[in-house]
Amino acid sequence: MRIDIITVSPDLIKSPFEHSIIKRAIDKGLVEVHFHDLRTYALNKYGKIDDYQFGGGAGMVLMIEPIHTCISALQAQRAYDEILYMTPDAKTLNQRTANTLSMAKNIIVLTGHYKGVDQRVRDKFVTQEISIGDYVLSGGELAAAIVCDAVIRLIPGVLGDETSALTDSFQDNLLSPPVYTRPSEYDGMKVPEILLSGNFPKIDEWRAEKALEHTKNRRPDLLED
Ligand code: ADE
Repeated sequence: MRIDIITVSPDLIKSPFEHSIIKRAIDKGLVEVHFHDLRTYALNKYGKIDDYQFGGGAGMVLMIEPIHTCISALQAQRAYDEILYMTPDAKTLNQRTANTLSMAKNIIVLTGHYKGVDQRVRDKFVTQEISIGDYVLSGGELAAAIVCDAVIRLIPGVLGDETSALTDSFQDNLLSPPVYTRPSEYDGMKVPEILLSGNFPKIDEWRAEKALEHTKNRRPDLLED
């Protein structure tokens, strides 16, 4: 997979790609991530990429032309499956969306800033808009990093144990059951006996029960879905 991120703050978004599982995925060549500074496509030598909104109101709006130039330059090189736009006024990211995106070959991720982008960018170029939750961030960069992380870890070969993504919370619309490690007793708190039993069918059963119980208590909405 190849991901091209268009941003006004490349430095803000790079760090999550330089560590741990995501870095290893890049090092292994399972995913390529490229950052494009929107200012490179600015309208003038002063780096103009935004302007006041028509109709008045606070906040600057990213202009269509630099974004169009950047997207066209990328599209001239290869076809893209999706052009994502990070924005709080969109459908919230969930595991299903991450699963679907993980099967794409080439993705552009456009991050907003200030008041967002000219609506015509969204109408003409964007194929999918994603919010990461009902709150407003200072820009779409952190949201883009979250979407990319959720997607990249699902690419086959990224996680060492191929099955571990399948047992994540949300894969079956269920939250994960609790997990424990050594010691089996700490300060009087014991690990559930069943997990020490070696009876794997029973352990699977216990985990399924706990996952359901956990979901009923914390996220009953997932069970209605
Ligand atoms: N940009 C600002 N807030 C955001 C959010 N909640 N999700 C996605 N992009 C955003």
